[in-house]
Amino acid sequence: MLRPLKASAANNQRRPITVLLLVFCAVVFSLLVLIIQTSFTGNQNHNIKAETIQILTNFQSSVQQCVANRGFGLTAHIVDHCKLVLKFPKSTNSSWYNEQFKHYEPLEYSYDVCEAILLWEQYRNMTTVLTREYLDARPDGWLDYAAQRIAQLGAKKCYNRSLCEDHLNLILPSKPPFHPRQFGTCAVVGNSGDLLKTEFGEEIDRHDVVIRDNEAPVNEKYAKYVGLKRDFRLIVRGAARNMVSILNGSDDEVLIIKSVTHRDFNTMIKSVPNPVYLFQGIVLRRGAKGTGMKTIELALSMCDVVDIYGFTVDPGYTVWTRYFSTPRKGHNPLQGRAYYQLLECLGVIRIHSPMRAARFQDWSDVPSRETIAQAHTAALYLKRSKAGEVGNLGPFGSCKVWGDADLDGGQVSGSPDMSDTRKNSNYSRWEVLPFHSLRKEAQEHYFQMGGVSLYKMDGNKLDDLVCVRHTNKSNN
Ligand SMILES: *[C@@H]1O[C@H](CO)[C@@H](O)[C@H](O)[C@H]1NC(C)=O
Ligand SMILES: *[C@@H]1O[C@H](CO)[C@@H](O)[C@H](O)[C@H]1NC(C)=O
Ligand SMILES: *[C@@H]1O[C@H](CO)[C@@H](O)[C@H](O)[C@H]1NC(C)=O
Ligand SMILES: *[C@@H]1O[C@H](CO)[C@@H](O)[C@H](O)[C@H]1NC(C)=O
Ligand SMILES: *[C@@H]1O[C@H](CO)[C@@H](O)[C@H](O)[C@H]1NC(C)=O
Ligand SMILES: *[C@@H]1O[C@H](CO)[C@@H](O)[C@H](O)[C@H]1NC(C)=O
Repeated sequence: MLRPLKASAANNQRRPITVLLLVFCAVVFSLLVLIIQTSFTGNQNHNIKAETIQILTNFQSSVQQCVANRGFGLTAHIVDHCKLVLKFPKSTNSSWYNEQFKHYEPLEYSYDVCEAILLWEQYRNMTTVLTREYLDARPDGWLDYAAQRIAQLGAKKCYNRSLCEDHLNLILPSKPPFHPRQFGTCAVVGNSGDLLKTEFGEEIDRHDVVIRDNEAPVNEKYAKYVGLKRDFRLIVRGAARNMVSILNGSDDEVLIIKSVTHRDFNTMIKSVPNPVYLFQGIVLRRGAKGTGMKTIELALSMCDVVDIYGFTVDPGYTVWTRYFSTPRKGHNPLQGRAYYQLLECLGVIRIHSPMRAARFQDWSDVPSRETIAQAHTAALYLKRSKAGEVGNLGPFGSCKVWGDADLDGGQVSGSPDMSDTRKNSNYSRWEVLPFHSLRKEAQEHYFQMGGVSLYKMDGNKLDDLVCVRHTNKSNN
């Protein structure tokens, strides 16, 4: 009777020791595993980081070489794997006086190439037209955000959704009317007087799509210089009143309102049959500056190649002129020239200007699409690892708000009280375009993105996207 008791007592005494030993072994073992693992992944992270910085450093060198080849004396000075300074030659005549900051334009401009490449690559996948599905997706879409896009309401909210809809119906498609990669080549034509020094007209017209802005006239008088083709026109409020005569029967030209809709636009819209939309991606409440940049953003969201004309990007000019009217104030020639040169060397745009007209148009010194894609991945990795979000390198990493929409459903732009002019028009042409008639590249992109449309929340904030999934109901 005692034995088993003793034995069990002895056992009881030994057991804690065995257990302790086992626990000790387990702890040592897992510690070892942990140490090995962390040193391994630590090394791996370290290696990836070194590789990433190497990719960006190489990219900086190719940008530097490109600026040297194409910049007419501009030089790029590398600060680190992201930072770059563009400098004009010391002898540059900086004659443009900035009234606001009370100084002449500087001859040096600093850029963060990593940020720039993230921003501009993103535009290639973006929808830049305001849609119903976007307003539906945003929790504040109809009553707050929509109200900000209607000038008459000011900062006040729409009292109810139907009030907002009344204002927006004419210019609000259900889903994106235009798609990433929809067109191969696009010409973005600015209004610079420099256009009269060259005869780019035929070259411009050879593009799949031509994008102009505001009151730029297109007619026989200027055909030699700016071409006759007209597909898109980005407009600000000041241009609304003259639009009927400027369009002069160009009924299919798509008008895109740059910032907010307004009474003046409503009046114009009722008297023309053209499709009219609102740009999506504007910095709200910052005036109507930079129409040129917005036309480039619009172009990138639809086109593979973006050629710019008439943006005055040659050295040596002293005054900003327009090809069709008297000079205007308020431009920053050197700042603009430096930035456009950077964009060309980032593969975003191709610059055409008088000084380049005679040159053989060779783009071999601009980084290739593969090089740019690689640099984009590297820049994204750096940014995400700084924010502690490694591993989320996909195109949906910036989606802050998600929505769902039916691919087939929804109404086209229009309103019940449409004017006769609009009733007889086919302004819905783009909105009812069957998917299979889209360009092959656009279809492929659609499938690669899993049918998701990306929109900027608003403005230039890189990280805030609204993402809308499209489901194909006719498949079910
Ligand atoms: C610089 O520009 C100003 C204003 O256009 C002009 O008067 C001046 O002659 C120019 N100087 C040189 C050295 O080109
Ligand atoms: C929305 O507001 C308009 C204008 O104030 C009004 O006429 C309409 O009856 C309202 N609709 C609803 C559903 O409250
Ligand atoms: C309007 O277009 C017609 C041809 O469609 C042309 O004859 C006329 O000159 C144009 N008017 C203006 C003001 O450009
Ligand atoms: C853009 O879309 C392509 C698919 O066409 C995708 O591979 C890429 O990751 C996307 N890039 C961004 C920045 O969204
Ligand atoms: C409608 O669009 C088609 C295709 O672009 C065009 O040929 C036609 O003239 C347009 N009709 C009207 C009334 O604008
Ligand atoms: C939607 O489904 C229909 C029928 O299966 C198909 O023909 C069409 O290509 C689909 N569209 C997309 C965008 O997947």
